[in-house]
Amino acid sequence: MTNTMWGGRFAASPAEIMEEINASIDFDKRLWRHDILASKAHVAMLGATGIVTPGEADQISGGLDTIQAEMEAGTFTFTRALEDIHLNIESRLAELIGPVAGKLHTARSRNDQVATDFRLYVRDEIETIDAGLAQLQLGLAAKALEEAATVMPGFTHLQTAQPSTFGHHCLAYVEMFGRDRGRFEDAAKRLNESPLAPPRSPARAFPSDRDMTAKALGFARPTANSLDAVSDRDFALEALAAASIAAMHLSRLAEEIVLWTSPQFGFARLTDAFSTGSSIMPQKRNPDAAELVRAKTGRIAGAFQALLMVMKGLPLAYAKDMQEDKEPVFDALDALKLGLAAMTGMVGDLTVDAKAMKRAAGHEYSTATDLADWLVQTLNIPFREAHHITGRIVALAESKGSDLKRLSLAEIQSVEPRVTEGVYAVLDPASSAKSRKSQGGTAPANVRREAKRWIKRLEKD
Ligand code: ARG
Repeated sequence: MTNTMWGGRFAASPAEIMEEINASIDFDKRLWRHDILASKAHVAMLGATGIVTPGEADQISGGLDTIQAEMEAGTFTFTRALEDIHLNIESRLAELIGPVAGKLHTARSRNDQVATDFRLYVRDEIETIDAGLAQLQLGLAAKALEEAATVMPGFTHLQTAQPSTFGHHCLAYVEMFGRDRGRFEDAAKRLNESPLAPPRSPARAFPSDRDMTAKALGFARPTANSLDAVSDRDFALEALAAASIAAMHLSRLAEEIVLWTSPQFGFARLTDAFSTGSSIMPQKRNPDAAELVRAKTGRIAGAFQALLMVMKGLPLAYAKDMQEDKEPVFDALDALKLGLAAMTGMVGDLTVDAKAMKRAAGHEYSTATDLADWLVQTLNIPFREAHHITGRIVALAESKGSDLKRLSLAEIQSVEPRVTEGVYAVLDPASSAKSRKSQGGTAPANVRREAKRWIKRLEKD
């Protein structure tokens, strides 16, 4: 049997393998809701402009409602021979209402239809992802408020740097996910043009009202160029690029959770709800969810590359290559939504061991920079020299198996005689973290203020 939708000039049916490679219904069936929505907007426009009669428009629209109900009830039968979601729906429409169904496809092509459906889909996904990102930010900001004064070591190169607070650490991620939301929002703005029914050849053009369909579908305007309308997938690429960066952020947080919950760090613990056991080593609590979130970055960034490679080198306008746009987008955005939900769950579940964090914050001479700053501020020693003196004090502590705050004043003075008792105030990790009060600093008062500002803003969203 030749394809009933386009087989007019074909005598023989496609090879089995042709159908196998050509059909997209197995994955694009998830566009059904958007396909019906766009078709209803289109047929309303056809009716309003007199391209079809109002009666015909009503009949078609009613048939589409029936299909919608069948989809919702799960009784719709998808057929591979009909290739994709567009032809499956149109063919069912013909079964339901007869030949008038054929008028739905007036003045549009599958190429603009799929571009429209896909834009609508990605637009909805961006909205869901934005909500997911906001939830995660809220969870992190709440954690920041709770742990505003929890002292922890800061790290660079994963080596102990200066003392920080856990709240401050959480707020760094709130900023990162905030930028992700900005990227998605920006992508959604450019996405929001309707590619539906662009005039193909001026001679044959129907008096379509593209403003009407654009408005009905919530687009800001129709696309300006008919070739660009059907061959552009920037909106999908931009969503994948934003998703890749968000996934990279999730992965960094996931990695930190893996580190913090390891017995070697012992900074935090996930409850049984977010841990798994080992089938061989009974003592283990594995952070599988964090590891999987960390790993999802691979498929999400991979999807971006996959679509970029599909699109590169395609001559204008549509080519069937572009059917390969959907699976990477579906897979990547699904993975991102799952990763966000799992991370939000973990952040809420995480309890920190404040004592262990504080202990670690005092290790490795973490207040050495504070000591150098003290030398600069109190004794007016140039920073480079202060750095050098501090290095010698650290070496002294190391040789005695001590930390900085347990060195006696006489010991410190053996390196720099001008040092006074007052220095001990900056050698304690907690007072060090508290001392960084300027904008963007680690001090608990800062963290509380920033966390509250975020929570207020996020609850308004
Ligand atoms: N299933 C196709 C896709 O996803 C729809 C457009 C097909 N157009 C065509 N002329 N064969 O891209």
